[in-house]
Amino acid sequence: MPTRELITERLRLRPWTEGDLDSLHRIWSDPQTIWWGPNTTLDQTRAVFARLQEQGGWWAVAHEGFIVGNVFLRASPRTPGVLELGYHFLPSCWGKGFATEAARAVLDTTPGARVEAPVVPENSRSQQVVKKLGFTITGQLLHAGRPHDLWTR
Ligand SMILES: CC(C)(COP(=O)(O)OP(=O)(O)OC[C@H]1O[C@@H](n2cnc3c(N)ncnc32)[C@H](O)[C@@H]1OP(=O)(O)O)[C@@H](O)C(=O)NCCC(=O)NCCS
Repeated sequence: MPTRELITERLRLRPWTEGDLDSLHRIWSDPQTIWWGPNTTLDQTRAVFARLQEQGGWWAVAHEGFIVGNVFLRASPRTPGVLELGYHFLPSCWGKGFATEAARAVLDTTPGARVEAPVVPENSRSQQVVKKLGFTITGQLLHAGRPHDLWTR
């Protein structure tokens, strides 16, 4: 997926670049955001950075010049021809509508595309985001060893 800059009412979405490693680490080392296993070393985040560069479709989300989160719209690892949506924001920036605003902007780049998002049933914040974006539950799957609902639109 190509990643071009996107501007929304409050946010600037742009490709992650080498100079953003510390910002990515701030997100990826936060135990509330990466609740399934935060990074403890910068080298672990370097590996995440290499993966996101390889996959494409990952945007850094900035608010007032500060990177507050990440959103991706990448090829689904499980369903050919389908995209997968994901988002991760610093806890200090939850409750402002940023995730929904950023996700809507990336979805708007591929109107009509089939998109899925696996969400654990306990992740009510993430469920609210996909619901607001018009996703519905279309199945269940085991992802990273945990039961997830598969949300699709
Ligand atoms: C999932 C996650 C991104 C959701 O973040 P979020 O801030 O709750 O989601 P939104 O951006 O949609 O914000 C919604 C909230 O902003 C509020 N809000 C405030 N101002 C708003 C505005 N101008 N527009 C829209 N909503 C606004 C809404 O009322 C809602 O508040 P509530 O949570 O008190 O009900 C965040 O919890 C997260 O990073 N979690 C960890 C990573 C994760 O689990 N990712 C998903 C894996 S499937």
